[in-house]
Amino acid sequence: MEKIVIKTRDSVSDILVGAAWEKVKELLPETGVAILTDENIINIYGDRFPEFPVVSISPGEESKKLEVLEKLAEKLLDSGIDRDGFILGIGGGVVCDLAGFLASIYMRGIRCAYVSTSLLSQVDASTGGKNGVNLGEAKNVLGCFKQPEFVICDPLMLKTLPEEEYLSGLAELIKTALIGDRKLFDVIENNQAGILSRDPDLLSMCISMAVNFKAAVVTADEKETGLRRLLNFGHTYGHAIEMFHSFRHGYAVASGMELASGYSLEKGLITLADYERITALLGSYGLLPAHNIPDGIIARLLLKDKKKSGNDIFFVFLNGIGSAVAEKIPVSEAVDFYLHYKPGK
Ligand code: GLY
Repeated sequence: MEKIVIKTRDSVSDILVGAAWEKVKELLPETGVAILTDENIINIYGDRFPEFPVVSISPGEESKKLEVLEKLAEKLLDSGIDRDGFILGIGGGVVCDLAGFLASIYMRGIRCAYVSTSLLSQVDASTGGKNGVNLGEAKNVLGCFKQPEFVICDPLMLKTLPEEEYLSGLAELIKTALIGDRKLFDVIENNQAGILSRDPDLLSMCISMAVNFKAAVVTADEKETGLRRLLNFGHTYGHAIEMFHSFRHGYAVASGMELASGYSLEKGLITLADYERITALLGSYGLLPAHNIPDGIIARLLLKDKKKSGNDIFFVFLNGIGSAVAEKIPVSEAVDFYLHYKPGK
């Protein structure tokens, strides 16, 4: 087990990679805990949950909305959770986003932690303190930063994920490799059999590499005023594709990364060889479904992006495998690139 610490101005968050999730019982207060989870997780792990009240949501992105949050808050009240309460989210990105947001506003803020059950949440969503809900087709526009006290990332839990959910998380792992860790890219490229069979030791190593990178970024820039922007690589187009086509997050981000790599190539920031290596890797894991957002709609969706400022957007380019840079560009340029990009160029 490796403990990775994210230290910010107001908090310390311990990310426990490779820990057995059942150990969570030893980390919780004796009373006042409520577990927030989803119905799939209850079916698989519910009989081993610590003995606390459980509130649950329907699995999936559809649950990331304010009305679900309101119902959950009512259930916490009914369960007697007060200001000394503690929310334990057991689930993937949606559960952790809701648990963190609820903990930050319930009674003006109570404690929280997560058992992170999906690859996507272990390598990205559950660490770093971002939370929130969607507003119509705008992703994560209501939310805040709140660091969980701890996050358990148990790679054995990834064995039960549906294939598409697992591969969706792999896209976020590839993202981290592309923006910050060339060695991680080599590992994902050279160990496809182990990645696909979900070898727990290999996954523990990859998750640790990703979380170590993210911990350094969040410790340096918790509130995303600079360095943390790099974590949005692939997400500008990715969020638009996710909203328009209703793809799983990672598949949309993978397509967004293909586009952003193509854009980086067009600007002369990466070589054709690197571009081809990136798209070959994404393609080899089946992460590049066709997408086609029509003219007019792509502009509207990009203008809803949180990274927008006026008519400009912070767009993340690669300047090599393992290195990225965020640049302010007009949204209209990003729209033009989307409309003229031809994969494989
Ligand atoms: N998922 C991007 C971030 O945590 O900043």
